[in-house]
Amino acid sequence: MQNSSRTEGGDGGPLTGTGTGKRYRDPSSNPKVSRLREVIGSTDTSNGWEKSWEEGMPTPVVVHLVQTQAIPKGRVLVPGCGTGHDVVALAGPERYVVGLDISGTAIKKPKELSASSPNREYFSFLAEDFFNWNPSEPFDLIFDYTFFCALEPVLRSAWAKKISEILKPEGELITLIYVITDQKEGPPFNNNVSDYEEVLFPLSFKQIYIEDNELAVKPRKGVEKLVRWTRSRNE
Ligand SMILES: C[S@@+](CC[C@H](N)C(=O)[O-])C[C@H]1O[C@@H](n2cnc3c(N)ncnc32)[C@H](O)[C@@H]1O
Repeated sequence: MQNSSRTEGGDGGPLTGTGTGKRYRDPSSNPKVSRLREVIGSTDTSNGWEKSWEEGMPTPVVVHLVQTQAIPKGRVLVPGCGTGHDVVALAGPERYVVGLDISGTAIKKPKELSASSPNREYFSFLAEDFFNWNPSEPFDLIFDYTFFCALEPVLRSAWAKKISEILKPEGELITLIYVITDQKEGPPFNNNVSDYEEVLFPLSFKQIYIEDNELAVKPRKGVEKLVRWTRSRNE
């Protein structure tokens, strides 16, 4: 097991920016981040972005992948980890997991709640901007669930570039894609599998698995795709 990410550096600290080149001491000054927080905190199911089920529970397909050991071991990153349940669910002796979120407020609660978790030595939460953060070591697995669609579409190429930089050459990217097509603006922004392909294929990523997420929670049944990516061997 590799767990050197305990030295990732800091457990919060000043927030550095949003990847847009602008810098913020507190992301509340960014209207987009405020909007995102509103949406995440909302239990209103009318906006297509409902999050109420996840009070206290990890994403079922994540639990399934862990239980069936169908997921890489080693160092794992969950960017935009939000409430952090998936971070804790993925963590264990075989996997050291870093939960990263630009919002110190978002990760405050999971940090507190997980402090007594039996897995607590196998994960850490960091309040950092994904785009400006440089991990001490690359990752074996990166898991993205609704981080991509929370970003301004103009940042998607930068998202893919950063993923490529901090993922080991043989590493795997798992995207649990909540397909959204009816948003006039965001976040969340409209996104489909082709949006990921557009930015990942030029960086030599290939799909090794794509299926509907049979274990999606009820409000997202039929609109989630589990897509797994690695780099093409010969590139
Ligand atoms: C929709 S939430 C997803 C939360 C989590 N993955 C889940 O499934 O519950 C998107 C998260 O991305 C975070 N975020 C947005 N921009 C970010 C950035 N540049 N760096 C790190 N986190 C960011 C937000 O604070 C928010 O918690």
